[in-house]
Amino acid sequence: MSATKRPRLSVIGTGYLGATHAVCMTELGFDVIGMDVDIDKIAKLGSGEVPFFEPGLAELLRKNLDTGRLTFTTSFADVADFADVHFVCVGTPQKKGEYAADLSYVDAAFAGLAPHLRRRALVVGKSTVPAGTAARLADLLTSRAPSPEVELAWNPEFLREGFAVEDTLRPDRLVFGVRSGWAEQQLRAAFAPVIDAGTPVLITDFATAELVKVAANSFLATKISFINAMAEVCEAAHADVTMLAEALGYDDRIGRKFLNAGLGFGGGCLPKDIRAFIARAGELGVDQALTFLKNVDEINTRRRQRVVDLALELVDGSLAGRKVCVLGAAFKPNSDDIRDSPALDVAENVQRCGADVVVYDPAATDNARRAYPGLVYAGSAQEAAREADLVLLLTEWAEFREIDPSALRQVVARPRIVDGRNCLDPTVWRAAGWTYRALGRP
Ligand SMILES: NC(=O)c1ccc[n+]([C@@H]2O[C@H](COP(=O)([O-])OP(=O)(O)OC[C@H]3O[C@@H](n4cnc5c(N)ncnc54)[C@H](O)[C@@H]3O)[C@@H](O)[C@H]2O)c1
Repeated sequence: MSATKRPRLSVIGTGYLGATHAVCMTELGFDVIGMDVDIDKIAKLGSGEVPFFEPGLAELLRKNLDTGRLTFTTSFADVADFADVHFVCVGTPQKKGEYAADLSYVDAAFAGLAPHLRRRALVVGKSTVPAGTAARLADLLTSRAPSPEVELAWNPEFLREGFAVEDTLRPDRLVFGVRSGWAEQQLRAAFAPVIDAGTPVLITDFATAELVKVAANSFLATKISFINAMAEVCEAAHADVTMLAEALGYDDRIGRKFLNAGLGFGGGCLPKDIRAFIARAGELGVDQALTFLKNVDEINTRRRQRVVDLALELVDGSLAGRKVCVLGAAFKPNSDDIRDSPALDVAENVQRCGADVVVYDPAATDNARRAYPGLVYAGSAQEAAREADLVLLLTEWAEFREIDPSALRQVVARPRIVDGRNCLDPTVWRAAGWTYRALGRP
């Protein structure tokens, strides 16, 4: 157990990452204040409602609100008064029309917090940022915080949406980018229960801590695009990418994870993180080192067009006036996150080809409706599929894997399906009378 006194924590930015972090740190025994500029979000969290879908988080939020150790505010002054260690978890989306990350939210959070820091405190960046950002923000803190004893650390976050609670309570590693022993001690104290449970801790400089996150996401994106590139070859060679992946996966130097060929990655992290990494490498004069990530991005985007092409093939070349059922809107199952969702991208493109598209998703319908009001939404898979000329399965929710092909056949106009995630058994669906197509397999 660490000798340093247990610090009081703040979490600035209570979105997917920050809300989970605030709740889980309270669960681990800390006193925590969550802060956001979004008044509605803070009101919801304070009343026990999670403003997004994350399995297990709502129960944990209510349980920890009841302890009185978790509070929420919209005030930087409250945060600075309360906490010794401040976790900054605001968004770093892609800049409009550019590859680079938009750091305006991070800059605003630091600029909002710094003038209130009147006593010794550690500010910890958790947002995913380009290498060099932490060094710049450390200078900002020094120049704007009234206390001379304010320090910065960088602690990248690796949680996966859909498993965010488990990943926060039991992460596979902790990376602390620090410039002093005191900063390291504070972080060790802030993660004492996690460290005591045996989680490895890596102490690095700022730039390495920043790079670990984007390097990890680049590796995962590359692995997905690798198998999707193999899917393209399999399609041309009449081979089966699902068997190829299984056979590759038995080699433990390769591993089976992230080798599911299909519609590719999306979401609020992988696409924008690899693009921001390419942009930053260019600024650092090493753009050649990351040219392969452009290929990774292109392979990923091509899969979306391939699904539209398969859809066209199945309806004899014209989608005009066809009724198309889209199963899935979230960028992945067990999430309501629709940021850069491959499913919605395909749905919109199919609609542009003249189809009448009806979308169903178990959790992301409200978000999808707000972002894509031109699409029609149904309350169930059966309702979305009614009288459909074609079904597109685009997010691999367990609910879709378990659909009974014979029952679904009863409601569609024509039994034709594109399995955009290779998550159905083609033999079973074909035996039930469906024309089944998928990516990278016959
Ligand atoms: N979502 C994930 O799975 C995940 C995983 C690892 C890392 N990250 C990184 O974490 C960061 C946050 O991602 P997210 O998915 O939680 O984003 P998000 O958009 O869900 O949440 C960001 C929150 O920050 C708030 N915010 C914006 N400006 C603010 C300010 N000035 N002061 C206080 N709050 C402010 C927003 O209102 C929003 O609630 C990003 O850098 C992302 O790349 C996300």
